[in-house]
Amino acid sequence: MSVLVLGATGTVGPHVVRALLSRGEPTRVLTRDPRRAREILPAGAVVVEGDPEHDDVLLDAAAGVRAVFLLSSHGRRMADVQLGIIRALRRQAVRIVKLSGTSTAITPDGPHACRQHWEVEQVLAASGAVHVILRPNAFMQTLVDQTMLPAARSGGTVPNALGAAGLSMISARDVGDCAAVALTDPRWDGQILRLTGPRSVTVPEVAELISVRIGHPVTVTVSTPAAMRRVLADRGMPTWEAEHFEEMYRLFRSGRSESVTDDVRRLLGHGPIDLTDHLADLLARPTPQNSSGDAHDA
Ligand SMILES: NC(=O)c1ccc[n+]([C@@H]2O[C@H](COP(=O)([O-])OP(=O)(O)OC[C@H]3O[C@@H](n4cnc5c(N)ncnc54)[C@H](OP(=O)(O)O)[C@@H]3O)[C@@H](O)[C@H]2O)c1
Repeated sequence: MSVLVLGATGTVGPHVVRALLSRGEPTRVLTRDPRRAREILPAGAVVVEGDPEHDDVLLDAAAGVRAVFLLSSHGRRMADVQLGIIRALRRQAVRIVKLSGTSTAITPDGPHACRQHWEVEQVLAASGAVHVILRPNAFMQTLVDQTMLPAARSGGTVPNALGAAGLSMISARDVGDCAAVALTDPRWDGQILRLTGPRSVTVPEVAELISVRIGHPVTVTVSTPAAMRRVLADRGMPTWEAEHFEEMYRLFRSGRSESVTDDVRRLLGHGPIDLTDHLADLLARPTPQNSSGDAHDA
């Protein structure tokens, strides 16, 4: 038996594939971009070309697997894509592990992507499929690697729309490791697992950690969720998505993403990666940015 991973070529997917292979689990991915999949995924994963929105393609890829990892990218149609996948898989009685979003935001009136996750979770629960729901907090890779670190490097300033609130953000590596456990161990069936990092950190605390690591000062400027939406919209982001981020920033600013759970430890037998270790690992990797000489050796 093997496992089928959907959404394998993004932020979380490669970690799910790596963790499954390291557990000795035969692993298949269904991707619309097999060339990219072969470039970024570990050797050993079986790459199947196709779009999971096409039922026949999905059912062929899922034939004989014991579980499916359900992820598709954050987007206006995310719920439509995932509901179609759940509907198609009903013909094949397979376990489903769904990647959802920040737990406190999974409500019918939560931020755009989160209310879509809420709808998918409702349908999945009612579908009768054996399933596990993973609700991770914001990823370090999204907020730090892709947002705050580039801002700190290019202008030396980081906007703070969260005020004094902290975030218990999690590494996508831990999310992938947890997904691999849920996909291969039926003891987690029926559960909603709330995945957080080991502690809550504020934006000024993250800026200070980055500053120490890159070896130059990082200034934190005061911002608001509405100001962040305007900045993102001015950069060309679609209106719905800029509004989604405003809603997320409002949620984070209220402190509703500060709490820390022990679900990662329960799943993995060890605690989640701390931001300090994540940054050290990130900046030690040989990338064009890291060879510019500003990575700190400490
Ligand atoms: N970023 C965060 O901080 C955060 C926190 C908590 C939860 N989440 C949730 O995590 C998910 C995103 O994870 P990610 O960042 O790893 O994903 P991602 O990088 O945005 O995309 C993952 C993959 O989804 C596939 N995909 C994209 N559009 C698709 C479509 N229309 N139909 C089918 N597949 C499609 C693509 O695979 P192929 O091109 O290979 O087919 C893509 O590589 C979202 O549900 C988001 O709400 C994010």
